[in-house]
Amino acid sequence: VDAQVGALRRHLALVGFMGAGKTTIGGEVARLTERPFVDTDREIERRHGPIARLFRERGEAAFRRLEEQVVAEALRADEPAVLALGGGAVLAEVTRERLRRHAFTVCLPVGAEAAWSRVHGGDRPLAQDRAEFFELFEEREPLYLAVADAVAEDVEGVVLASLATESGRGRLEDVDAHIPGRGSVAVVVDETVHALHPLDVGDREVTTFPIPAGEAAKQVAVADGLWRDLRIGRDGALVALGGGTTTDLAGFVAATYLRGIPWVAVPTTLVGQVDAAIGGKTGIDVPGGKNLVGAFHFPAAVLIDPDVLDTLPGEERRRGMAEVVKTGLLAGKPLWELPEDEMVRACAAFKCAVVLSDPYERGRRAILNLGHTFGHALEAASEYALAHGDAVALGLLAALRLSGQPTDVVEEVLGPEPARVDRDAAWAALKRDKKAADGRTRLVLLRAPGEPEHGVELPDAEVRAALDALIAP
Ligand SMILES: NC(=O)c1ccc[n+]([C@@H]2O[C@H](COP(=O)([O-])OP(=O)(O)OC[C@H]3O[C@@H](n4cnc5c(N)ncnc54)[C@H](O)[C@@H]3O)[C@@H](O)[C@H]2O)c1
Repeated sequence: VDAQVGALRRHLALVGFMGAGKTTIGGEVARLTERPFVDTDREIERRHGPIARLFRERGEAAFRRLEEQVVAEALRADEPAVLALGGGAVLAEVTRERLRRHAFTVCLPVGAEAAWSRVHGGDRPLAQDRAEFFELFEEREPLYLAVADAVAEDVEGVVLASLATESGRGRLEDVDAHIPGRGSVAVVVDETVHALHPLDVGDREVTTFPIPAGEAAKQVAVADGLWRDLRIGRDGALVALGGGTTTDLAGFVAATYLRGIPWVAVPTTLVGQVDAAIGGKTGIDVPGGKNLVGAFHFPAAVLIDPDVLDTLPGEERRRGMAEVVKTGLLAGKPLWELPEDEMVRACAAFKCAVVLSDPYERGRRAILNLGHTFGHALEAASEYALAHGDAVALGLLAALRLSGQPTDVVEEVLGPEPARVDRDAAWAALKRDKKAADGRTRLVLLRAPGEPEHGVELPDAEVRAALDALIAP
């Protein structure tokens, strides 16, 4: 199922008319997702010299043949890359077919007038005559849209689409358009959210399963109840509507029921929208610890609608801000200062980019745990009386201090209060962290904002002192 999700395990190809921004946006997307970048025009020029000269000396048909080869070669590479395709590349049916098979294709739309003003006067052979340029635009625009799996306007839009994620007001109203398959639909919904945000899934046969609010949802008994009661076939789908606890549980049930059915995540908390619903990690809690049983199972779509946050209690919003600050520190941008819609979209896009670079957490994805090693230890030591977001806020303080970075952002935006937990219990929990199976604690620190490093080992005494400093005397 994961192989069908956006560009998760495929190339990401950008198509569009001259001047749409494929090279600029593609380069930035490649940087954010840490994928190789192939700009087909540049690659042709690298091998065969300037395109203007190729057109002049060998003609457009010869250029198109070279272009077809370069695109085919790039799409054959095993390592998923970001490709910016020349404006005419999609003219070849064989290229369109290869894109359908090997890539997730995103169209960058541009108006003819805007495109002309960006590219005329240069040496592009097909951007010399205004009337011809506009004619070409009319001819090609439908081809881009026909071959595209998604349309996106900017870097964030491309990254979000590449992980089947949409963010914007009103998304809750068109959930039905994103539910895969034709069979029946099970909506698993947090009981509090159920009363606040009714969900319309169109004409599909639908059964609604309210589940307990909060961490009480992530229990094997709740999963067991769903395994017993679900009546959906492989052509059906599950929709999760709620915060991180709902999407973690429902995603886990979707991963295990019939060995995996498609699911759609509709996060309704700030934590869910900027973090928990994105990235395919699903799971439940067991007596040995939180999230100890789970699976990677990527949602077929993540639909983020900031409108639903209007009913979110203030303390839940504050807890979500801890993940926003974490994301901003990792991205090196003050994302917490943005208006809510933009903030949510930017954080979601950053997480998508990190996940696309390392979907199954073999390396870089670990940076998302900034502050979490300390946070988890404090949560566990409080026997989960301390909320995750509040624990993460404290964890960020520790991570910044150990990184030698200023902590004022955390203090000003999150204002964390020292935890009232037993110091030895917190230390024991930190040493037990599931990401330190060999007994060595590996931390995520920041060389500077925007420059995280993971897998950092520090002397125990230093780590313990940082943990102790988070605990009330
Ligand atoms: N899978 C991941 O990658 C990942 C990442 C981060 C966190 N998580 C998990 O997410 C969970 C925390 O998620 P959370 O903070 O969203 O908690 P949550 O799901 O428990 O929601 C918090 C509270 O807000 C209520 N609520 C939800 N939406 C609402 C709305 N729109 N209006 C009013 N009330 C609403 C819920 O009923 C609940 O009481 C933890 O279990 C954590 O382990 C998972």
